[in-house]
Amino acid sequence: MKQKKTFICKECGAQSPKWLGKCPECNSWGSLEEQVVSGAKGQPARTTGQANIIKLKDVPNEPDYRFRTSITELDRVLGGGIIPGSIILVGGDPGIGKSTLMLQMCGRLQKFNPLYITGEESLQQIKYRAQRLKGIENDMSVMADTLIENINAAIQQHDGRIIIIDSIQSVYSERVDATPGSVAQVRECTSLLMQTAKKSNKAVFVVGHVTKEGVIAGPKILEHMVDTVLQFEGEKTYSYRILRAHKNRYGSTNEIGIFEMSDKGLREVSNPSELFLAQRRQEDSGIAIVAAIEGTRPILLEVQALVSPTGYSVPQRTTTGFDMRRLQMILAVLEKRLGAQFRQADVFVNVAGGVYMNDPSLDLGLAAALISSLRDVPVNPKALLIGEIGLTGEVRAVSNIEQRLKEAQKLGFQKALIPSQNMKKLPSGFDIKISPVERISIALAEILG
Ligand code: TYD
Ligand code: MG
Repeated sequence: MKQKKTFICKECGAQSPKWLGKCPECNSWGSLEEQVVSGAKGQPARTTGQANIIKLKDVPNEPDYRFRTSITELDRVLGGGIIPGSIILVGGDPGIGKSTLMLQMCGRLQKFNPLYITGEESLQQIKYRAQRLKGIENDMSVMADTLIENINAAIQQHDGRIIIIDSIQSVYSERVDATPGSVAQVRECTSLLMQTAKKSNKAVFVVGHVTKEGVIAGPKILEHMVDTVLQFEGEKTYSYRILRAHKNRYGSTNEIGIFEMSDKGLREVSNPSELFLAQRRQEDSGIAIVAAIEGTRPILLEVQALVSPTGYSVPQRTTTGFDMRRLQMILAVLEKRLGAQFRQADVFVNVAGGVYMNDPSLDLGLAAALISSLRDVPVNPKALLIGEIGLTGEVRAVSNIEQRLKEAQKLGFQKALIPSQNMKKLPSGFDIKISPVERISIALAEILG
């Protein structure tokens, strides 16, 4: 059979008959990789197509059957559990804990007889780790292989419902002439796995490493192919890890799962606020407590700001866990509306050690932390700040105010500043002093010193 060469963009999957430095579709540079496909050129279609159109009401109702992992934080992110026949990509930096999470999940899913296929570690290493993690039975099925055809056979033959492949970058197919981890290999292997998963109605977890840019190594198209993309993230220097769903055909992508890495593996964090507030030094300036909502869960967090005189002609702005443009906007509002001076100062912002929260209700807390650090007066440590800041310095309403206040109450906060717009629908009976605020200037006067 004649061999044909094509070049595939690893970012968007576009194809080109010749190599190009820049992808004509997505404009990324150096992203085209060679792929050899066997098959004759210009073959006519073998059959004429057949259309199968039915009414929605005639589609059979199947029960929403999910395997619960009984790891609450994982089930939540999966949308309630694992759907058989689906393929789930678990991405994350090397060393973040993907293999550990998968192994611990296997431990909980013994009744579905999981099969752990490793292409990265030896079976000896897996055994050693399993012994250390506890709760993982000795009769768990394992296999060390990297050839996708063997893995495919194993998935079909294994009498269990859950398969783990660690990792997609280590497996390869003999039919594709490229190194493991290349676009062509990853694409071929994933599409094979998808067919087998659907046919055998087994859930397949595929572990994938993440490159420096934060995309799953190899092609972005991998993300398009699978049913669910979970991302395991966290700062190496902190022990907690966040699991997020970037894509989920069977659930919401808002939920997060929080874990803590310990010497006995990953531990679920069911009350994140306590974890994030544990190391707080109440008397320091530049700190404020905010209430974020992640998915359906309120999480109280500490936002920190440090404002110090700059030694540069262009002062520095550095953020961890907070949007840089949002910080610039808040600084501009504080300068314009309060006359605060940040022009001669470096500004550093840190939200709960790098847990990225994309919730505008953090604005008010951050503004308070900034002014607190600038003037070196602490924010009232028993108070919580909730509110989005608008360009004119107004404090805007936020969603889910009740949930946020309940969490604050549970953790013993005595006072909460909330947008006055949120007062209208607020039920009474909170055992916490609520101060409605309309403008940032009034809020800060109330909370500082
Ligand atoms: P691992 O699951 O191998 O990461 P990945 O598969 O994402 O590359 O986790 C590796 C890190 O986790 C390693 O640095 C050691 C640490 N770790 C613990 O701290 N405690 C444990 O019980 C285990 C198993 C790992
Ligand atoms: Mg690993």
